[in-house]
Amino acid sequence: MEKLDLNKPVEIAKDIFWVGFDDPNAGFRCNPYVLNDGEETVFFDPGSVPHFPIVLGKVMRATQLERIKHVIVTHQDPDLCSAIPRFEELVEGVGGGFDICTHTRASVLIAHYGTRSPFYRVDANDWKLTLKSGRSLRFIFAPFLHFPGAFMTYDEKSKVLFSGDIFGGLSFDWNLYANEYYAEAMKAFHENYMPSRKILKHTMDKLDALDIEMIAPQHGSIIRKRDVRAYIDILRNLECGEDIFE
Ligand SMILES: [Fe+2]
Ligand SMILES: [Fe+2]
Repeated sequence: MEKLDLNKPVEIAKDIFWVGFDDPNAGFRCNPYVLNDGEETVFFDPGSVPHFPIVLGKVMRATQLERIKHVIVTHQDPDLCSAIPRFEELVEGVGGGFDICTHTRASVLIAHYGTRSPFYRVDANDWKLTLKSGRSLRFIFAPFLHFPGAFMTYDEKSKVLFSGDIFGGLSFDWNLYANEYYAEAMKAFHENYMPSRKILKHTMDKLDALDIEMIAPQHGSIIRKRDVRAYIDILRNLECGEDIFE
């Protein structure tokens, strides 16, 4: 397998970059992503305040700040949202601006980080966002995984599924791409963060009809096409949350 330089943005699909922090001391890695589409950039789950300087450096290598037009956040947790006000300042400073694409339920909480950008509410916009080029990003509602308004984003052009916390993993031995140990890391995360097998299955069943090239989660490792169906099946059948509460 190719040697990846994790100090730079890593192109995981055409014009889509991982811009995260390879923190050797963390069992809980965060994965922000940048998608470039012509002059427009979409920024997924930007990250936290402590990760901000490293993520910023990578974002600036992957795109220009003024091109960021949409920031998509799957829910309101600080590990993906707390850096938004910092990015707002910098993007506004170069004459740009973006909207924050999220569910209405998350938007009322995200505002408490002190964000100023307008919200694009995925649930009020037919669960999709059309970029200037006509490229379509589809939002897939994933209720209660692990937030009531959680969702995933499916890019119809690349067929990459940006899955937020879903398909995330928890382990100190981390790889950008999922290896044979990733199923255990993914199970450990879901057992502790997701509410029940019934709720997980409800969303996994929606993915059966999707042609998925790659799953890009906000934690853990990226799942390539050859493994996509196997990982969906693992989550479809996983006992978690209340199933193992005792
Ligand atoms: Fe979360
Ligand atoms: Fe998270």
